[in-house]
Amino acid sequence: MIATVPRLLPGDTESLTAYQKQGGYRALDQARSDLDTLREVLAQTGLTGLGGAHFPFATKLNLTLAAPGPRAVVCNAAEDEPGSQKDRTLLERNPHLVIEGTLIAAAALQADVAYFYVSETLEAALQSLQHALQELAAGPLLGAGVELRVHRAPVAYVAGEATAAVRAIDGGEAKPTQQPPYPSESGVAGRPTLVSNCETLANLPRLFAAGNNGEASAQTWSRLVTITGDIDAPGVYEISPDETTFADLIAMAGGMTGASPELKAIQPGGPSSAYLPAAAADVLLRNEDIREAGSQPGCLAVRVLSHARCLVEEVAELTAFFAREQCGQCPSCRMKTQAYGKLIQQVQKGRGNWDMLHQLSTVDEFVADMPSRCALISMPTPPVASAVRLFREDFAAHIEESADSSCAAAH
Ligand SMILES: Cc1cc2nc3c(=O)[nH]c(=O)nc-3n(C[C@H](O)[C@H](O)[C@H](O)COP(=O)(O)O)c2cc1C
Ligand code: SF4
Repeated sequence: MIATVPRLLPGDTESLTAYQKQGGYRALDQARSDLDTLREVLAQTGLTGLGGAHFPFATKLNLTLAAPGPRAVVCNAAEDEPGSQKDRTLLERNPHLVIEGTLIAAAALQADVAYFYVSETLEAALQSLQHALQELAAGPLLGAGVELRVHRAPVAYVAGEATAAVRAIDGGEAKPTQQPPYPSESGVAGRPTLVSNCETLANLPRLFAAGNNGEASAQTWSRLVTITGDIDAPGVYEISPDETTFADLIAMAGGMTGASPELKAIQPGGPSSAYLPAAAADVLLRNEDIREAGSQPGCLAVRVLSHARCLVEEVAELTAFFAREQCGQCPSCRMKTQAYGKLIQQVQKGRGNWDMLHQLSTVDEFVADMPSRCALISMPTPPVASAVRLFREDFAAHIEESADSSCAAAH
């Protein structure tokens, strides 16, 4: 019986001793001593991937398990998504939780190697992780036939995509590869590989502990949220999705700021998610509630915008980001992201018209049947389409009044 289930974020950086004092690594011990129960518990979990796509963890684990070993695990903490800081915060503050979760996944898969794939810019996270690994190396918890390695991910948004991570770890360019084969079939060095987000893996100790105690699933547990934008205390917060609304989150982060601090828009799931109007402040931060409200939860990189903001300026920045970060391998993605970037820039500079915005859906239709290697190609559509629909007056200011650097918000 495991008494204590660790939270995701403790107050201070957790040392090995402190982590063990509150029950840390007991779930791993138990998992290793009863692999059948471990696999059974993990196979039943409703946990979905917290890297953004929300693919069911149990399905991915079972697919990887179905392929013959040796197998590998990749803990994905590349985190170059604008606005997201949860994975680095987790590694800085609770590295042993991430390690324990990764080791539990490795035990379930009988993997012989596990990689921590961390952006090379995240020095504090890397240091905390290395320190925790050194603490572990001195004791008996490592071993069990699994080697732990740290791989520094290059700085590029696309480097965090699962197949790009596998390719980079194998010494190639950090760019997506054609699927199939999926990493679960053939990943790092040809091994069936589970690529999971850092926060997803950090849930495994408490998930196994609770499952093993016959408790309910992970659905009601805490989740990490990064809040940015016009907010007094931007940063990472641990919230309970069942109890926390966007308004509660804004209050936790000190309230809205700026020249005109009333809430205008919420972008709940990072740069590729659709905007929601201020009326969505009462929506709970549960995946299904966010979807029902018309957006996507993604990795809960929540951006809140006040009335001082112009949505044309916002989407101009986002579409320029996608055009810059597409990796150039797929003509369809190059074409779409550049078309979005150029057309929105024209509108932003006061040289656009409504027809240009209609052309965007023609671009979407044109590339719909063309091949592409990753999901970046579809990312510009939800934020732009929702901004045009919900904040038409901002676009009207740029189009009809030819405002070149500000919009209705500033007029
Ligand atoms: C352009 C792009 C960038 C991505 N960046 C990350 C990232 O930095 N971290 C991450 O965990 N997943 C990222 N993903 C999602 C991964 O492909 C993959 O779905 C995820 O690591 C799987 O973990 P999960 O199932 O636990 O979410 C990215 C996907 C795309 C298309
Ligand atoms: S869809 Fe875009 S980002 Fe993804 S591999 Fe193709 S070109 Fe690169």
